[in-house]
Amino acid sequence: MTELDARLGKLLQGRKEKNRFRSFKEYDTSPSSGLVDFSSNDYLSLTSSPALRKSYLARLSSTPSIFGSTGSRLLSGCTPSHSSLEGRFQRFFHSPSALLFNSGWDANVSFFATVPQSTDWVVYDELVHASVHSGLRASRVPVERRVAFNHNDPDDLENALKRITSEGSSTDKSTVFIALESLYSMDGDFSPLPSLLDILGRYVPRERQCVVVDEAHSTGVYGDQGRGIVHALGEETEGGGGKGRVDVRLMTFGKAVGCSGAVLLCSPTVRSFLINFARPLIFSTALPHSTIMALECVWDVLQSEEGDQRRQSLMVLSSHIRTLLDQLLSRTPPKILHLPPDPIIPFPNASILPPIPGSPILGLLTPTPHALAAFLLDKGFIVRPVVPPTVPPGGERVRICLRAGMEKGVIERLVDALGEWVEMRLAEGKQVRAKL
Ligand SMILES: Cc1ncc(COP(=O)(O)O)c(C=O)c1O
Repeated sequence: MTELDARLGKLLQGRKEKNRFRSFKEYDTSPSSGLVDFSSNDYLSLTSSPALRKSYLARLSSTPSIFGSTGSRLLSGCTPSHSSLEGRFQRFFHSPSALLFNSGWDANVSFFATVPQSTDWVVYDELVHASVHSGLRASRVPVERRVAFNHNDPDDLENALKRITSEGSSTDKSTVFIALESLYSMDGDFSPLPSLLDILGRYVPRERQCVVVDEAHSTGVYGDQGRGIVHALGEETEGGGGKGRVDVRLMTFGKAVGCSGAVLLCSPTVRSFLINFARPLIFSTALPHSTIMALECVWDVLQSEEGDQRRQSLMVLSSHIRTLLDQLLSRTPPKILHLPPDPIIPFPNASILPPIPGSPILGLLTPTPHALAAFLLDKGFIVRPVVPPTVPPGGERVRICLRAGMEKGVIERLVDALGEWVEMRLAEGKQVRAKL
């Protein structure tokens, strides 16, 4: 063993002792495995859509270039198919411009590392994705100008803005960036976006705001044809008929879209700035042709009746599990299992979805997520534990993700298994008390 291995080994041991050690776990989720995957972000079950598979294979077999793009977008990787897909996204999302990235991670890191300048402020929900933090760490924004507010808490955003605006002079030309997610990946709750934007408007003039909403978990799922939550709330760019209070949207392709990559929807100036300064974009090979083709095929589905049906099925399942869980949790002490608070956000442009839609993500908080995940696996359900540092200490949980193609019966069996686990915990508690 080299000295380096010995040193790294010690650090890993420290992680193990804190119960934070990570390793890959591979599960066979084929139909014959008997396992049901409640950890996948394939919310619309598109990765198993026969129609999508057929159209993708047909497109691949009829197109000459199907492999790698062979270079960064600034070199050989800017092909007509890349530009044409960006054009489609620009129109579809009613955005002034669109820029493809190889991943949502790259897009967030690129944006937050380069766009906010040293005299700007970045105010962010405490639960925004790690990629925003990584971007900010690489940015010129001093640590004291990066301000977190409590998750989904308009009052705490107001406190942060009061502090910032009292520190800035009236001649201050800085921009106040606000970083939010439309649907949070760990708690599965929606951002109270309109309330947050109302508050922002009271403290910062519109021309000094830059509101950035990460729609990683809502792309394809919410809004007309899957245009996302900003669209469903009527907050998108003015040209697209919205109120125009959101400046930048990140739509990612690794979750409900079933592919990989991302598109950043922003102004043409921000787009050009990123092309000039964003290192993950400049120094990395662009998305392969096969992915561009897959994305075109996915968007054909999202814009079809099949897309609507899949979105509706997901909403039916999310409301079903919520009813069952509410029944279970009403008789369960919160210290054994509970859901985080869930603000009710009505969507005025809900299209075919309910005006107060459900969420496909449920973060069930428990102090013993590993034990609960192991118990559920034994029953045939893949549910992943989530522990710090992915969530703050005290936020340990199992994360349940629904997919449009699931049967209601499977969800009922999962909630029955959760009920069994709760009964076991309650019985253990009684035994301990009896011994005292
Ligand atoms: C909220 C959020 N933003 C960004 C990302 C990164 O996206 P990608 O997986 O495309 O890199 C994720 C992925 O987990 C996410 O949950």
